Amino acid sequence: MNKTYQLGATAAFGLEGVVAGELKRLGYENAKGFHGGATFEGTLTDAFRANLWLRTADRVLIYFGRFKALSFEELFERVKALPWEELLPRDAQVYVTGKCARSKLMSVPDVQSISKKAIVERMKAAYSLNWLPEDGARYHIDVHLHQDEAAVTVDTSGAGLSRRGYRTLNAEAPLRETLAAAMLITSPWRPWLPLYDPLCGSGTLPIEAAMIALDRAPGLTRAFDMERWTGVDGDALASLRSEARTRFETAKKERAVDISGSDMDERVLRLAAAHRAQAGLNDFIRLECKPVSRAQLTEPRGAVVTNPPYGERLGDKKSAEAVCRDLSALMRGHDDWTLTAISSDRDFEKVYGRRCTKKRRVFNGRIECEILTYIPTSDRLAKERRPAKDRGERAKK
Ligand SMILES: C[S@@+](CC[C@H](N)C(=O)[O-])C[C@H]1O[C@@H](n2cnc3c(N)ncnc32)[C@H](O)[C@@H]1O
Repeated sequence: MNKTYQLGATAAFGLEGVVAGELKRLGYENAKGFHGGATFEGTLTDAFRANLWLRTADRVLIYFGRFKALSFEELFERVKALPWEELLPRDAQVYVTGKCARSKLMSVPDVQSISKKAIVERMKAAYSLNWLPEDGARYHIDVHLHQDEAAVTVDTSGAGLSRRGYRTLNAEAPLRETLAAAMLITSPWRPWLPLYDPLCGSGTLPIEAAMIALDRAPGLTRAFDMERWTGVDGDALASLRSEARTRFETAKKERAVDISGSDMDERVLRLAAAHRAQAGLNDFIRLECKPVSRAQLTEPRGAVVTNPPYGERLGDKKSAEAVCRDLSALMRGHDDWTLTAISSDRDFEKVYGRRCTKKRRVFNGRIECEILTYIPTSDRLAKERRPAKDRGERAKK
């Protein structure tokens, strides 16, 4: 139960450092970003804690084995040599997937079936069984071959961590919850500042913001595969869940938040309202039906974090650009408000009319995007500094 494993929190391209930062804030000082996520060390209870609290990761995996495999015989022997009985009980449902890239072994079905056979053989010998009943908890094992190196992982999460449980209705082009959380975490918004999404669609950004502001664990109301495993410390898991519930209940009583969203589409706002209710956040997010051209920033400072329409299809490009100009007009003159927007449009800055302060390349599903952040005060400070620097350089000549 107290065995320490190498764990991995997988993430979308571009979010590796964000996940590593989240893990460090959870106390896993040695967390390191790598291509596709971040690694850290911990027990199964730590894996559960990561599942419960990570906002930007896709899954939490146990790295169960790594080895070179140049032939199927070698793959079979190396998978069989792993101590499966330490993690899997005799009734484990063994579900194996595979991936192959730039390796000698490139047949995914063969990698899958040979690995499964090797695990079954190991378990049969360890438990003195002729066949495995496989009627217990599910263990999803993945064998990923990359440049002939096999990484064998066991998935502790089950459904991807973006499935918080509140978003059950389908809007067009919803933003993935993990990406929405990453936009908020990397934006200049802080939980005590007003947050506004004038293109909120089904409500993902305001809901994720309220969850951050109110210390609500993203996994609070959903289950994880590992909770059904026999090797976990059930009491420790239950106490982590109950602590998370208490933190949310306490924050709801003590914290003041100012989070709102609007959208011009009444139907999509109804979905946002349903999702807000499902997340238990009715009292903390205001929703309004209006076009961005009528949106206003009424507080002296705050953050707009938004996901404008991409205009991927030909006919949509013009209206997406009009929205971008409306956003620019909304922000104009509000030097103490920041804007963070995600866009796949390479011309976003041109249409918006200004260069952004910083950007981060990410993928929203398969679409390559940028998260652009505008911090007008930094423009102001830069302008204030620039003449002095220029003067100094000229004076020297
Ligand atoms: C990419 S979607 C946002 C999706 C949202 N982040 C979610 O997770 O559901 C863009 C949203 O902008 C809204 N929209 C488009 N043009 C608008 C306008 N001029 N004013 C207000 N909302 C607009 C659409 O109705 C749509 O819901």
